[in-house]
Amino acid sequence: MKILVTGGTGYIGSHTCVELLNRGYEVVVFDNLYNSKIDVVDKIKKITGKEITFYKADMRDKESMRPVFEEHTFDAVIHFAGLKAVGESVEKPLLYYQNNITGTLNLCELMNEYQCKKIIFSSSATVYGSPKTVPITEDFPLSTTNPYGSTKLMLEGILSDFCVPDEEWSVVLLRYFNPIGAHESGLLGESPNGIPNNLMPYIMQVAVGKLPELGVFGNDYDTPDGTGVRDYIHVVDLAKGHVNAVQKVTGTTGVNIYNLGTGNGYSVLDIVKAFEEANGVKIPYSIKPRRAGDIAECYANPKKAKEELGWEAQYDLRRMCEDSWRFAKMNQGQ
Ligand code: NAD
Ligand code: WQD
Repeated sequence: MKILVTGGTGYIGSHTCVELLNRGYEVVVFDNLYNSKIDVVDKIKKITGKEITFYKADMRDKESMRPVFEEHTFDAVIHFAGLKAVGESVEKPLLYYQNNITGTLNLCELMNEYQCKKIIFSSSATVYGSPKTVPITEDFPLSTTNPYGSTKLMLEGILSDFCVPDEEWSVVLLRYFNPIGAHESGLLGESPNGIPNNLMPYIMQVAVGKLPELGVFGNDYDTPDGTGVRDYIHVVDLAKGHVNAVQKVTGTTGVNIYNLGTGNGYSVLDIVKAFEEANGVKIPYSIKPRRAGDIAECYANPKKAKEELGWEAQYDLRRMCEDSWRFAKMNQGQ
C-alpha cells in the first residue's frame, strides 16, 4: 500500500513515516519545510533502511502538489501539514485560516480529482474546549478558544461533510492529546524555533542551559497539586496509532473519530519530577500566573481507539522523558 504523508518531515509526521515503513508501507511525503528540515528524510532512511519519496510542495499552492498526485496512486493520505502555534494563531488568524483551511481544501480537491478519497486528519484535543469532566470521550461537546483550534474544528466538519453526498469518502479524525518524547535513536524529535510555548520543549531548553528556569503557569487549579493536568503521549505511540488508523480508513467509509491519548493525567510538577528522576538533571522552576486560555485538566478516555483500532499507548512517562532528553542532548546546536 502507498501512503501520502503531508507534513511528513514534521515532528509527528516523521515518526509516523518510520512506523509506516517498519510495517511495510510505501511512503511519499510532501512538506513546504516551513517548520521542518530536509535532513529528516535521510534520518528516516538511517533509522529504517528504507527510502521515502519527498516532494517540496506548499498546500496553499494547489499546483505545487499536483506532481505528487500525477506520479503516484495513493491508498490513503495522512494529513499532518499545518501550522500549530496557538499564540501565533491569535496574532495571525488569517495566516492560520489560509494555511490550514485553504491548504486542506486544495489537498482535498486533488484527492477528489485523482480518486483517492481516504484521509486521516490530525485533529487535537483542543476541539473539546474546556471539558466539564475528565476523562474525555469522543462524544463530548466541541468548542474552541483560538483560531488554531477553530481550524481543527472547522476541518473536522468540512471533511465530515464530504462523506454525506459521496459514499466513497472515508475520514478518520484523530484527536491527539499532548505528544512528547522522541525516537529512541535520538535522530527525530521536536525542536521548535525560538522560545518554546509547550511544556516539554521548554523543560528541554532549561535542561540544556539555554533558559534559566521553567515558569509554571499557575498552581491554584482544582487539581491534586494545583498545576495543570494533561495527557502526555509518546510520539512513537502516537505514530503507531496512525498505522492502525490506515487499516481503518482503507477498510471502511464515512467518518470515524478517535482520541489518541494514554488515559493518564499528569500535572506540570509531575512532569518536572519525572524528568529529573529519569535523567538526573535538575529543572529549576518558579510559579507564574496562569496562562490565558489554559484549562485545569485534560485527559483522554482512549477506550474507543483500543476497541476499534486495536491500538493503545505503550510507553510510560519515564520513557517519554528519557527519549526527549536524548534527542535534546544530541541536537543541542541545531
Ligand atoms: P510540525 O510543525 O512539526 O509538522 C507540521 C509540518 O507541516 C511541518 O513540517 C511544516 O513544515 C508542514 N507544513 C505547514 N504548513 C504547510 C503547507 N502549507 N504546505 C506544506 N507543508 C506545510 O507539527 P506536528 O507537531 O508534527 O503536528 C502535526 C499535525 O498534528 C499538525 O496538523 C498539528 O496541528 C497537529 N497536532 C499537533 C499537536 C502537538 O502538540 N504537536 C497536537 C494536536 C494536533
Ligand atoms: C501543558 C501544561 C501549561 C509551558 C497545547 C495546545 C494544544 C495541543 C497541544 C496542538 C499546561 C503548562 C506550559 C510552560 C507551563 N497542540 N506549562 N509552563 O496547552 O495542553 O496544549 O499543545 O493541537 O492545542 O494548546 O500544552 O505543553 O503548552 O502546556 O506551566 O512554559 O504545561 O500551563 O498546564 P497544552 P502545553
